[in-house]
Amino acid sequence: LGKRIIHHESIASTQTIAHDEARNNAPGGTIIIADEQTKGRGRIARNWDSSKGKGIWLSMILRPEIQPHHAPQLTLLTATVLADVLSNYVDINPKIKWPNDILMNNKKMAGILTEMQAEQDQIWYVIIGIGLNVNHSIDDLPEGLRNIATSIKMETSKEWLLKDLIQEILVTFERTYEDYLENGFSEIKQKWEGYGFKIGQEIAIKTLKEEWKAPFLGITDDGALLTKSSSGETIELYSAEIDWFH
Ligand code: BTN
Repeated sequence: LGKRIIHHESIASTQTIAHDEARNNAPGGTIIIADEQTKGRGRIARNWDSSKGKGIWLSMILRPEIQPHHAPQLTLLTATVLADVLSNYVDINPKIKWPNDILMNNKKMAGILTEMQAEQDQIWYVIIGIGLNVNHSIDDLPEGLRNIATSIKMETSKEWLLKDLIQEILVTFERTYEDYLENGFSEIKQKWEGYGFKIGQEIAIKTLKEEWKAPFLGITDDGALLTKSSSGETIELYSAEIDWFH
């Protein structure tokens, strides 16, 4: 991992470049990183604010030999890697909000965007995008984000060297990823649940048909959320409107 690092000062999105590189046979482990993104992408077609030198904006190309339906495990793995680096290296206590937002004091510090190209039972490549807010002061955040986002600097009252953090993330990722390929998902799942936001607590769920409250029990091997239906059976949710702060 990281044997080939492609660095750009300013780019639309590292994610887009990573797709181009992957289609051109870039090896698994290639990393695309940018100081600034002008069109950073978030999940569900949202944009991702990625201003110059304020955070870590990178995409990794992976070519794991796993079943396509297990690809969400890589997103959960990446979330535990970020949570580990934030706890062990930065010395703060992050939570992971299902499926993969990193929170500090209920505000978002990092997000992960996983995209893949697969055919039937085979993965061609997976791209994992990481956006981590590092050196933003509150004034550096767009006004609309000030109540819902945070940065490492805002939580620790000091500036951090991006290159040291990148190094920590890549080294921790490599170790965790290799362990996962060898030993499977169960350790990651346990770890994820240890960081899980609202695990064991009540969440409010809203589907097209109904709204109810139920405990958040944990996650499955496919990354689904385990909870109870309104009639009390255990169910798996893959995508749902959850009101985390009800
Ligand atoms: C989310 O929480 O919605 C996911 C955000 C992912 C942002 C990162 S920044 C690097 C990579 N390039 C992008 O355009 N997006 C991801």
